[in-house]
Amino acid sequence: MNESHEIIDSPKIIVAIDGYSSSGKSTMARELAKRVGYIYIDSGAMYRAVTLYALRHHLFNADGSVKKAELLPHLNQMNITFQPQAGEDGVQHTLLNGEDVEKEIREMEVSNHVSPIAEIGEVRERMVALQKEFGIHKGIVMDGRDIGTTVFPEAELKVFVYASPHERARRRWKELQQKGVDIPFEDVLKNVEERDRIDTTRAVSPLAKAEDAIELDNGAVTHEEQMEWLMKRFQEATEGKA
Ligand code: DC
Repeated sequence: MNESHEIIDSPKIIVAIDGYSSSGKSTMARELAKRVGYIYIDSGAMYRAVTLYALRHHLFNADGSVKKAELLPHLNQMNITFQPQAGEDGVQHTLLNGEDVEKEIREMEVSNHVSPIAEIGEVRERMVALQKEFGIHKGIVMDGRDIGTTVFPEAELKVFVYASPHERARRRWKELQQKGVDIPFEDVLKNVEERDRIDTTRAVSPLAKAEDAIELDNGAVTHEEQMEWLMKRFQEATEGKA
């Protein structure tokens, strides 16, 4: 029996990958899930989908704050799901009430409005409940900010990913350029820094490393090195379960 079969035959676990925005955690999480045949869930996409819904329904004030009392009754009407298979672009698309919103939720308009949405306790409660349901049968890799601390504190493998704001802005800027979005680097850097500030200082489930999470400095390693490192950690975690 080869190594990959041993991994797949082991009891399924939950993998929680948390970290700062644009730290490369989604790429790692997605690839790990693909390699080991697990479900991948991008929890940030869910907060982005709520933000898109709020933008479409004019639920922001002119100063960028959320019309919270008006938003809350809409929460139960938002069904956020994911396409079971990755599309031609290799990405698993996010669906909002059945509509493919993958492209729109990645636009700057959503990025600039998502933090105040993710700060609302009721929004987080609803998203965390949905996220827990996705993980009910284990065999899942989920990335976000509070996966190891709040969504799956029992996860068998927790990774916390670091990278400098400059490095993360560079990555995000490159991604946007590839998608044909031409935006000054400085604007992307400002957005990354502002989101860090809000993510780490918000009252409910701030971005924090779980005590038992393993740290990865993602600024200093190549993609292949990251994946090798992650596959080793995954193997150790599943062996622990066998
Ligand atoms: O990972 P991302 O940049 O797509 O996340 C979008 C926003 O959602 C980001 O501002 C932080 C928030 N978020 C969160 O609060 N909790 C999560 N588990 C995932 C994302």
